[in-house]
Amino acid sequence: MSSRSDAAPPSTVALAAPVVTIDGPSGSGKGTVSRMLAQRVGWHLLDSGALYRVVAHAGRLLGLAPDDVAGHTRIAEQMKVEFEYSGAGRERIWLDGADVAAAVRDETAGAGASRVAAWPEVRAALVARQRAAALPPGLVADGRDMGTVIFPDAPLKIFLTASAEERAKRRHKQLKEKDSAVTLPGLSREIAERDRRDATRPVAPLVPAADAIVLDSTTLSAVAVTDAIVALGRTRALWGEC
Ligand code: C5P
Repeated sequence: MSSRSDAAPPSTVALAAPVVTIDGPSGSGKGTVSRMLAQRVGWHLLDSGALYRVVAHAGRLLGLAPDDVAGHTRIAEQMKVEFEYSGAGRERIWLDGADVAAAVRDETAGAGASRVAAWPEVRAALVARQRAAALPPGLVADGRDMGTVIFPDAPLKIFLTASAEERAKRRHKQLKEKDSAVTLPGLSREIAERDRRDATRPVAPLVPAADAIVLDSTTLSAVAVTDAIVALGRTRALWGEC
C-alpha cells in the first residue's frame, strides 16, 4: 500500500487509556480481528463503523430524506446507542432501547453508512463519543480514520488490508447466510464502489496513518493476524503475555 495521509498532523488528544487502532477497508477482517484482540487482551472495543450504520438506520426509521444532512447530524449528536458483545461473537446494538444489530449489519445499512460518513457534520458529531470510549485498561478501535483522525496519538496503529477479490468472498460468505439474494459479482461491485467513496472523500478518507503498520490478511487467518498484533503490542509494552 503506497498512499499515505498527507493531511496536516491532527492535534494531540489526551487519552484516559492506551488505544490500538485497526483501520482498513470493508472485508479486510478488521472487525473479527478487533473483537478477537479486545477479548484476548481484555480491552474495550469500539466498532466505529457501527455508529455510522446506526445513524443511517435511524434516519431510515425516521423517514429522513437520504440527503438530509442536518437531520442525520442531529441523530449522530443525540442518539442513545449501546453495544454489547458476548464471548461467542454475538452482538447486540441497543438504539433507544431496541436491538438493531441485525438491521444495521445488512448491505443497505452499509451503503447508508458510507453515504452519511462522507458528511463532515456527521463525522464531527461522532468524534467526542468515539474518544470517550478510550477507557482503562485500553481500547481497540476499529474503523477507517481511527489512526488518522480520532486517535492520532495511539501507541499502535494497524492498517489491515486484503485483495479486493478475497474481501468480496469474505463478505459474501458472511451475508449469504442471512440474505440469499446476495451474489458475489454484485457484492464485488458494491465493495469497489464503497472503497472508492471511502478513499476519495475529502474528509477523513480511508488511508493509512503515516505511522501505521500495514498488514495484508489475504492469505492469513484472523487468528494469525491477531497473533501478529498481540506480538507487536508486547514489543511496545502495551500488555504482557496473553
Ligand atoms: O466498517 P463498516 O463496514 O461497518 O463501516 C460502514 C461504513 O462506515 C464504511 O463503508 C465507511 O464509509 C464508514 N466508516 C467511516 N469511518 C469509520 C468507520 C466507518 O467512514 N471510522
